[in-house]
Amino acid sequence: MLRSIARLLRLVAPFLATVGLLAWAILGLLAFVNGRWVEKDAASRARLVVDAARDEVVERWEAGEPASLQELLDRVTRDERISALALCGADGTRIMQTECFPAPLGCAALAPLVGPGSQGWSGRVDVPSGEVYVTALPVGESGASPGFAVVVQDLAFAVRRERLVREALELFFAVLAIAGVVATVAGYRFSFRDWTLDLRRLLLGGGAKRRPEFQPLLRDVEALVARLASEAQDVSGRGAFTPARLRQTLRRQLQGERVIAISHREPFIHERTASGAVTVRHPPSGLVTALEPVMRACSGVWIAHGSGSADWETADRRGRIAGPPGEAAYTLRRLRIPEEEGRGFYYGFSNEGLWPLCHLVHTRPLFRPEDWDAYQRVNRRFADAVVEEADGPDPVVLVQDYQFALAPRLIRGRLPRAVILTFWHIPWPNAERAAICPWHSELIEGLLGSSILGFQTQLHCNNFVESVDRYLEARIDRERQAVVLRGETTLVRPYPISIEWPPRALRDVPPVAECRAALRAELGLRADAQIGLGVDRLDYTKGIEERFLAVEALLQMRPDLRGRFTFVQVAPPSRSAIASYRELDRNVTTLVERINARFGRGGWLPIALRRSHHEPPEVFRHYRAADFCHVGSLADGMNLVAKEFVAARDDGRGVLILSSFTGAARELSEALVVNPYDTTQSAQAMAAALEMPVEEQQARMTAMRMFVAEFNVYRWAERMLVDGARTRRSVRLRERLRQAAGMED
Ligand code: G6P
Repeated sequence: MLRSIARLLRLVAPFLATVGLLAWAILGLLAFVNGRWVEKDAASRARLVVDAARDEVVERWEAGEPASLQELLDRVTRDERISALALCGADGTRIMQTECFPAPLGCAALAPLVGPGSQGWSGRVDVPSGEVYVTALPVGESGASPGFAVVVQDLAFAVRRERLVREALELFFAVLAIAGVVATVAGYRFSFRDWTLDLRRLLLGGGAKRRPEFQPLLRDVEALVARLASEAQDVSGRGAFTPARLRQTLRRQLQGERVIAISHREPFIHERTASGAVTVRHPPSGLVTALEPVMRACSGVWIAHGSGSADWETADRRGRIAGPPGEAAYTLRRLRIPEEEGRGFYYGFSNEGLWPLCHLVHTRPLFRPEDWDAYQRVNRRFADAVVEEADGPDPVVLVQDYQFALAPRLIRGRLPRAVILTFWHIPWPNAERAAICPWHSELIEGLLGSSILGFQTQLHCNNFVESVDRYLEARIDRERQAVVLRGETTLVRPYPISIEWPPRALRDVPPVAECRAALRAELGLRADAQIGLGVDRLDYTKGIEERFLAVEALLQMRPDLRGRFTFVQVAPPSRSAIASYRELDRNVTTLVERINARFGRGGWLPIALRRSHHEPPEVFRHYRAADFCHVGSLADGMNLVAKEFVAARDDGRGVLILSSFTGAARELSEALVVNPYDTTQSAQAMAAALEMPVEEQQARMTAMRMFVAEFNVYRWAERMLVDGARTRRSVRLRERLRQAAGMED
């Protein structure tokens, strides 16, 4: 109630104040004008009376007839306005007066005011009966005749008249105020109703007009809605992080900056087949799996090595081509790496040196000076390309993986204000092991050119920071998870990578039942046969041999599975120019042959090794057809096969067996987590997976699906970009402060 009154008062107060001010001014003016008018009127009436009576007064005075003079004075005062009259001598003696002449008024006091040559005197005087208007006017010229007459007029009538007018005016203003208040409130209510209706229509998406006065409110509402939506997305579960949201983050936090990404592997490769046709191949690479959807969402330029046999004829002169094929969401800029340089850079330093160095898999790292040279040269090539692509002094650059440890520092040297977000997809070894690389300090310094350096796990961050501590003169700020080298800060933080949700490959895959039936038919299996699956590049870090030994142990342990269980291994060849990979290929082939020979019978083989390249929909068809997927890496930064398998199983079925040496094992705790070196344990996990009740499969799968849906790759990218944006803001602020300080100096 009180609040309503206060609101009403606020609404009408300006109007009431205006009316009050007006009333005060008009009444004041009225009093002033009326006073002047009354006085002027009284003065001229007095003059008229005296002028009219003057001759007669003089005559009767000279005739010595005081009674007749008195009678004359009394007659004059019969006028209702003239209340008293007196005749005074020029010397101030009182000659004669009417009965009601106020006693305090003396001729003596007035005589000096009506001296010779004077026009007379008028003024208001207070007497016991009230205020009167007194006029003293000369009468005769000779000293014998009366010197002047004093006319007294009662002003009560004027006061009465003024009060009457004042009261009428006051009433008028009071009525005006009340009418005004009523009209204001009614008008406000009507226009408020219209205003509210229009606003509601606008907010609810109707076709209402966007009035200018709505603008501030609408801006606030829009900002609020966007904030609430983004907060809701943060806390809500599945699919909350989307390409649209990532684009929005880029727009809001980095003013829609064009992102420049560099990686060695390109997202799609054009190959000329034996028949002469050009085909597109999507390489098996965790990096590509993760980064491609991010680039699709963010647009920008992706600089990568053009490694396909038809890459150059399909791109323009500068190696540019829109990607992904048929969609043009980003630009792929293919870079040439001369063959010799590529050998040293890719096969040599990256994959014979850094790859085994970072993965604890007992394959000896090889570091040759000529490979190091090539590694430096290729890093320079990519840094140059970034500088060419940058369209401002502070672009956002995503540097991907171990092939580019030097690029961040090289880019920083050319574009000091760039936001460089580097992500190391593979593990970072402990400090002792890192020092095996003769150029470990250069690698660490190179990486510290980044604004943010991301690893898959906290352990890898710790290992890196430990390496910095051991080998560089840098300050470690553990509270901020940062390293400060020569005044430049690099945040070193875990950003566990993930996949897009839902995966695009799922679009082109048939229903689970169809996939199951088709794969069984292809392999010549019974319709109720069970299938275990492995999907890995033929790489010694993936634990493929250990896995096959586990399959052997399973069939040994459970003879009943022979003939009704098959393990399918999708294993595209990888890095075959490297001896250790060729050796792995041979070993795997021999092992499969041995196990198949040992258990195979009547056309049934326990292991189906599919060594060719499989496009993503093909891989997803396998995921959907399997009863379990075995991810047995001996060391792995994350392993996105595990997450893809989970994403493929929208039927809630299937079991994930996951190596404890993968980054994914820290996230997908509902998997059956195994030590891949322990073949018995792996075999038991396979047996458990094949027998797991449907409800348990569903419970585990649902939990993992919820996790991957929420912690998808858009979230990964958003976190890095948001942290990058924050870094950029603080760098800019520091620059401004420095400039301001410089100006003051
Ligand atoms: C890992 C690496 C990637 C690499 C991928 C495939 O996932 O982290 O950088 O692209 O393996 O290897 P490749 O040598 O064929 O690119």
